[in-house]
Amino acid sequence: MTRIGICTVLAVLVSLAGGAALHSARAADTNSGSIDKGRYLVTISGCNDCHTASWPESNGTTPEAEWLTGVPIGWRGPWGTSYASNLRLLAQDLDEDAWVVMLRERQGKPPMPWMNLNRMHDDDARAIYRFIRSLGARGERMPMAVAPGIEPATPYFVLEPQHMERLTPSVADSN
Ligand code: HEC
Repeated sequence: MTRIGICTVLAVLVSLAGGAALHSARAADTNSGSIDKGRYLVTISGCNDCHTASWPESNGTTPEAEWLTGVPIGWRGPWGTSYASNLRLLAQDLDEDAWVVMLRERQGKPPMPWMNLNRMHDDDARAIYRFIRSLGARGERMPMAVAPGIEPATPYFVLEPQHMERLTPSVADSN
């Protein structure tokens, strides 16, 4: 190979290597961008309200390291008693595609707002997954859901409307 030929080959190799480095830097940027977006979406869409212990009581100041580890206080209603899961462990167990399908398709128990999350765009679901996964595993699994009419062994909130007869007749009629 001539000297010019060798130089050309070297130049091409160097530029390919540079391109690859640039490409992986861009991929890392996109990933950290989606982690930030996931943190934002988790915060504004209220996941901590139910999945993080004492979030409302702390007025949203619970350290991020403790977010989304689940709450062992049940939500009891006609569906039985459900528990806001430990999403930190779940995000380690599921891969990203399975997470996206779960948010899009699952019809689970109240008060988890499945009907809202079913409409989430895939890229938002991915960003949430990447953020939660980046926090790492922490905490314990939450109790299994309890069937309707069975007394749970844990503390729980009761989510059933009381004194519906107090609605004015016109409102009660329309329900
Ligand atoms: C009003 C309370 C509430 C809010 C707000 C809430 N969740 Fe939940 N979440 C629950 C409960 C209760 C369950 C268990 C529901 C069930 O068994 O179907 C649950 C279950 C889940 C599960 C299934 C976990 C598993 O182990 O199978 C995922 C995933 C999840 N929530 C994600 C989210 C995300 C993401 C947000 C924020 C966008 C959110 N949740 C907001 C209460 C809530």
